[in-house]
Amino acid sequence: MKILGIETSCDETAAAVVENGTKILSNVVASSLPLHAKTGGIIPEVAAREQARAMIPVVKESLLQMATSLSIRDWRSAIGQIDAIAVTFGPGLIGSLLVGVETAKILSYVWHKPLVPVNHLIGHLYAPWLANSHPPEFPLVALIVSGGHTELLYITGHGKWRHLGGTRDDAAGEVLDKTARVLGLDYPGGPAIEKVAASGEKACFNLPRPLVDSPDYDFSFSGLKTAVVNLASRPADSSVKQLTNRLVAGLAASIQEAVVAVLVKKTVKAAKEFKVSNIVLGGGVAANQRLHEAMIAAFPGKVYFPAGLALDNAVVIAAAAFFNYAPVSWQKVAADAAILI
Ligand code: KG4
Ligand code: ZN
Repeated sequence: MKILGIETSCDETAAAVVENGTKILSNVVASSLPLHAKTGGIIPEVAAREQARAMIPVVKESLLQMATSLSIRDWRSAIGQIDAIAVTFGPGLIGSLLVGVETAKILSYVWHKPLVPVNHLIGHLYAPWLANSHPPEFPLVALIVSGGHTELLYITGHGKWRHLGGTRDDAAGEVLDKTARVLGLDYPGGPAIEKVAASGEKACFNLPRPLVDSPDYDFSFSGLKTAVVNLASRPADSSVKQLTNRLVAGLAASIQEAVVAVLVKKTVKAAKEFKVSNIVLGGGVAANQRLHEAMIAAFPGKVYFPAGLALDNAVVIAAAAFFNYAPVSWQKVAADAAILI
């Protein structure tokens, strides 16, 4: 089964075709990141307007790539081989989601293909199923760490998950993005902090690790963010510009250590309590190498990372749709304009 996936929950406009949830036939991602780097964060209206412009060219490019992968004469003929259309319906920015969902609905109606709604966070977990001869085995514990979410799940099969806990305030990615800005680093903050932290400076600040030893599976990162803001604006260093490169590197390493320590401790605790031998990480923060090292060191079982599919993309949405296939017929799409969002 070949599924065309569409993903527009944040600032990416993505389309991909995946066969049987495992074989990538195309993968196209257009990002409006350079625009958001200028403003130090995403302005939802700007993101949605860019997505409205990029959506159709991105879908067309994914069909072109699919045609090449399958040696099909032209992209229009590739449409006939698509069995279903998958789309992220949430969570995400509403203006951005609407671009993808409305496009998917129209294509479903015009092409007479079923539509498969996919939860963005569940999509993030499917990266290890792509082109992997040894995909994860159930039951497993999954950690989803992105710009907007920090969620821990216990999963016993495709579509069978239990929410163990999540952040009570800021997400892990959000604290990296916000503290990076305080340190004068680029947006997005996660990769910027990782890069600066890798310069060799020690994690010399004893920053708070909220809820690290709490008996539940919840997270809280706002206290860490406040501690960094306070440190960076102490009278002695009254403006960010006065922070030396060494200090910024030391703070960046300390922030990364604090976030990683909490994520690893809670995830491994859940894996032990639920007696699983597989941990799956998903979402943008799961691209972090220090998180990889620390998770592997703390857990004797197998840890799966999203490799090149950590950031938002449509490949994982199409894969999740295959393994959790729950289609809405195109007739239903046509009859119910308000469907999905
Ligand atoms: O999953 P994603 O692309 O978008 C959302 O669904 O939010 O995640 C974006 C988040 C941002 O907060 C970004 O700073 C973070 O992932 N991120 C990283 C790294 N690459 C992206 N955080 C830590 N280390 C990285 N290498
Ligand atoms: Zn995401």
